[in-house]
Amino acid sequence: MEKQLSNKFYEAMKKLEPRYPNKKALILPALHEAQKEWGWLPKEVLAEIGEYIGVHAAQIREVASFYTMYNLNPVGKNHLRICTNVACCLRGADDLMSYAERKLGIKCGETTSDGMFTLSEEECLGACTTAPAMMANDDYVENLDINSLNAYIEKVKNER
Ligand code: FES
Repeated sequence: MEKQLSNKFYEAMKKLEPRYPNKKALILPALHEAQKEWGWLPKEVLAEIGEYIGVHAAQIREVASFYTMYNLNPVGKNHLRICTNVACCLRGADDLMSYAERKLGIKCGETTSDGMFTLSEEECLGACTTAPAMMANDDYVENLDINSLNAYIEKVKNER
């Protein structure tokens, strides 16, 4: 199997290993590190993580598919994940999602043709007290409204 992960990945894992009781406990950090490198987690990468950890690739995939923060398909440079669960929904998340779809010209779950944005739905980001909430890559954007969502998208577009 051709190596997919860099030396940097393996160096990061070596540094983390002493902090964990065994290699299996490294699955989540390994998935994070691999996703940092790839932007998403192709099956070859999951297989390589499995080989490193010492478990079958299917087990790595099971873990990765449980958490929405791991991307099992390619995503755009800016992954906008709008929470549409109860607290956010009560404070207008559905309208925000519709607005984002119109603004970006894509449906939830899709990526813009230029690869700049992917739009996804989330089931609670744990930021209910500052609903509605969105994650933009690794950053939280809270108390979201149409104006702040529009401003965020415009800011990202202008940073190209
Ligand atoms: Fe949206 Fe909890 S319901 S952050």
